[in-house]
Amino acid sequence: MNNRILITGALGQLGEFFINSLTKAGNYILATDIKKPNNISCDFEFYDILDLEKGNELIKKYKINQVYNFAAILSAKGENNPMSTWYINNSGFMNIIKLCIDNNIKKVFWPSTIAVFGKNSNLDFVNNEEPMFPETMYGVSKLSCEKAMFYFNSKKIIDIRSIRFPGIVSSTKPGGGTTDYIVDMLFSAKNNENYNCFLNSETFLPMMHIDDAIEASIMLMNADKKNISINYPYNISSFETSPSKWNNIINSIGYDLNVKYKPDYRQKIADSWPKKIDDSILRNDIKWEPKFNDIDTAKHIIDSI
Ligand code: SER
Repeated sequence: MNNRILITGALGQLGEFFINSLTKAGNYILATDIKKPNNISCDFEFYDILDLEKGNELIKKYKINQVYNFAAILSAKGENNPMSTWYINNSGFMNIIKLCIDNNIKKVFWPSTIAVFGKNSNLDFVNNEEPMFPETMYGVSKLSCEKAMFYFNSKKIIDIRSIRFPGIVSSTKPGGGTTDYIVDMLFSAKNNENYNCFLNSETFLPMMHIDDAIEASIMLMNADKKNISINYPYNISSFETSPSKWNNIINSIGYDLNVKYKPDYRQKIADSWPKKIDDSILRNDIKWEPKFNDIDTAKHIIDSI
């Protein structure tokens, strides 16, 4: 592929795995974040996406021609500070788009989320164009960026590609999300600890293995423009699970995880999110399908913790 890719928010849940896959595919990666990396396998620079001047400097210095913009505040953390969530997620998005336009960068990957849906969406099976009134500031901020994405893509100002990620299962902890229990439970099982779950046992939410999320994202970035049939983000779907089902899966593969349920404010967020997702447009456009079901995901990730 041989692109020179800037990744923002590279020390979050997704960064490390995207760095590995994109590097393997022959790209140069500049990872950036506002935290200090422990160890990282590519060039790294401190960069706050609100800092336009630094962004401009880095893009020029490293001759960047593509951006994966992961810097964002997630759903649960975002509810503790809605103003800064709006500011970081939206101004950050707009800054990246402005920097790309100013520096003639043609293609951006930016993840949206299942948090854009709300109680007025058909949550039992959300299609790509459900009515949306998100209940979290995270969802509100991502949905408004979706509208900006539609604007820029429709006017052919820049080519922004996006997928609405569900809960992602990986061997790194997410932090600040409503789907975080899916990873936390694996860590507790591996460490022989009990787990206190902040959602109730029967809350079904869509989830997917990180490798499936990465494969779909990179396939979407590489897809021929003529195959991209929509100017806004794609739904994506792999499997659905609830805390009690996930607990049973973990125990069925040889662990003895004991979970207590103490739902908190995140329960209300989860209740406003989809239970199941229709991703037929994505599958049709880029010919992707997930490789990991729920059991394979639990096994594979717990082994790599
Ligand atoms: N995993 C995210 C969250 O829980 C959803 O996109 O906030």
